[in-house]
Amino acid sequence: MAGSLTSKEYDPKELIPEFVKIYGGNAADIKIYSSPARINIIGEHIDYNGGKVFPAAINRYLYVAIRKRNDSKIVYNDVRFPGTFEFDINDDFKFDKKNDYANYLNGILSQLKAKGCLFPCGFEILMVSNVPAGGGISSSSALECGFAFAVSETFGFNLSRVEIAKLGQMSEHNFMGVNCGIMDQFIIATGKKNYAEKLDCATLEYEYAPLELGDYRFVVMNTNKVRKLSDSKYNERRSQCETVLATLQKNGVKINALCELSPAKWEEVKGFVSDEILLKRAKHCVYENQRVLDAVSALKNGDLVSLGKLLNASHKSLKEDYEVTGIELDTLAETAQKQEGCLGSRMTGAGFGGCAIALVHKDKIDSFIENVQKTYSGVIGYEAGFFACETGDGVSEYKL
Ligand code: GLA
Repeated sequence: MAGSLTSKEYDPKELIPEFVKIYGGNAADIKIYSSPARINIIGEHIDYNGGKVFPAAINRYLYVAIRKRNDSKIVYNDVRFPGTFEFDINDDFKFDKKNDYANYLNGILSQLKAKGCLFPCGFEILMVSNVPAGGGISSSSALECGFAFAVSETFGFNLSRVEIAKLGQMSEHNFMGVNCGIMDQFIIATGKKNYAEKLDCATLEYEYAPLELGDYRFVVMNTNKVRKLSDSKYNERRSQCETVLATLQKNGVKINALCELSPAKWEEVKGFVSDEILLKRAKHCVYENQRVLDAVSALKNGDLVSLGKLLNASHKSLKEDYEVTGIELDTLAETAQKQEGCLGSRMTGAGFGGCAIALVHKDKIDSFIENVQKTYSGVIGYEAGFFACETGDGVSEYKL
């Protein structure tokens, strides 16, 4: 197997000696927190349209080791990246391109300070991640929420999991300039092993659904095409949806979000929208929301075949109507859909690169990967990464 997703996993226990090597001092005062990646089973690009989504936290984690300092300094190190970032807790944190990953952390600190959280001293951290960056399984939310949780626990802010999720989203909006929805941060903060989560993004009500897949597993397939949400058409898609909503409201349709429309209601009111592109964007949202409801019932009834068909339909809609896939994701998902033992496949996350998922019979995983890899590298010219995932827990303290 090839690609960044299948490289050797880092053992978080190694963080402690590494931490002492960098910072010296007492190992007993160091704590480690873990933060998972996520897959979204179905419900794409509708969290910011008041839709329902169905993600799960998975067993790939980012780890944050942290210890308070005696002065007001903040020091960041990451095992994977050379160089140290140093700030002061009294700084007025602002986004700065040269601060690279430290922007995500400073973004969280800026939001904590805006909330009135007081820091009596600084702290030092060492991080490592087994979640590939820019890979579509939410490496950035894992970083934001893992760091927010570590800081909240260390300084006794006792933020709830929902507050952690909101803090991550606010940091993306106010600091990173990405108008993301709440799905990624929410599942990373509240996810639970063995469960997927049905989240209503309009109300933030959520329920856990046992992820019982029998002989099937979700295989994550990484295009290895890295992209940043801030460079992608993500914000543009969001504003296109807002334009449709405003047009419908102006014409007397009484809704607060696009996903309040059932498919039947959408067919009744879509005449108010004349732009072909906007019609396609909105159609995706309304029908994708319905697919989430159908997927949750299919899973409840143990009907994995129907679940697979819904995954395929979701991909087609994201390709043709929402237009956020591209040749890499299409090659992966469409090749996967043709393989023996695969019930369905779709892109997951924002798209434009990143990852796809496939529901594959456990005895067919090896041949599945081999075949999809062969086609993918033939068409794209470099290899994809693959791994079969299990569910995982939301942000937690990692006990040594
Ligand atoms: C990214 C965003 C989420 C969501 C997905 C698309 O992952 O962070 O809020 O909008 O894209 O479903």
